[in-house]
Amino acid sequence: MNIFTEKQPLKVHLSKLKAQHKKIGFVATMGALHQGHLSLIQRAQQKNDVVVVSIFVNPTQFDKKEDLINYPKTLENDTKLLKSVACDVVFHPSVEEMYGENTISEHFDFGGLEHEMEGEFRTGHFDGVGTIVKTLFEIIEPDTAYFGQKDFQQLQIIKKMVKICKLPVKVKGCKIFREEDGLAMSSRNTRLTLAQRKAAPFIYKTLKKAKKKFKKESSTKVKAWVENQFKKQEILNLEYFTIADEKTLKPIKDNEPDKKYRAFIAVFAGEIRLIDNMPLKN
Ligand code: PAF
Repeated sequence: MNIFTEKQPLKVHLSKLKAQHKKIGFVATMGALHQGHLSLIQRAQQKNDVVVVSIFVNPTQFDKKEDLINYPKTLENDTKLLKSVACDVVFHPSVEEMYGENTISEHFDFGGLEHEMEGEFRTGHFDGVGTIVKTLFEIIEPDTAYFGQKDFQQLQIIKKMVKICKLPVKVKGCKIFREEDGLAMSSRNTRLTLAQRKAAPFIYKTLKKAKKKFKKESSTKVKAWVENQFKKQEILNLEYFTIADEKTLKPIKDNEPDKKYRAFIAVFAGEIRLIDNMPLKN
């Protein structure tokens, strides 16, 4: 496994592989790797000759300083894990290497996708994500990049960014990986206390019930029901629950049969913010 901390040597390494017509798959991460990341890597390995994984905790996508400081950083363990799954290349740059002297993000117009849900609650988050993913795509120039659907809004925004910036990268969304009790895998889960961890699968259970209800009830009723369920919960605090169009991410108005809808949720367990989502029509 080749580990790079600087872009130039990485580019040289990859250009040699590209000259041999090797297909490059890419998985962008912020480290603290779990089974969900490994499933993305596996998918990338099945479809490509070489897999590059980046580990970079991107400061510009954090709207809260404490969240950035407390974000789990487990580089040694991540490296071991990546070796064990035969990852080819790891890119682990410093903030200076990625941003130079000014750690600021570019501003994007994602056609409104950036103002919904996470965009509403995390100011500047998607400019940060767009900036770093664009930079990583420009350095690595992968054929295909793989992202988890847990961050469904992020996935749609990255697809849009690729279109806007005309980058020659295919972006694939991969299914959400869950713990046995249904909790969506996330690096943030490691920060949950025992009691919070025990309570957290309630998010998935509620999404499943909401999906069932949506078959016969209006979205307004389902939303009110979810909000009520969380009022009874002591450990988890609901930030938002919304049913939105998968394409526009705008909240549903009328349930149109030819449109795909998804339920999106964000919940606080203490200071730890957990998100999840579920398609509603299949
Ligand atoms: O999903 C994440 O871990 C991050 O948002 C990403 C895509 C690696 C960009 O920093």
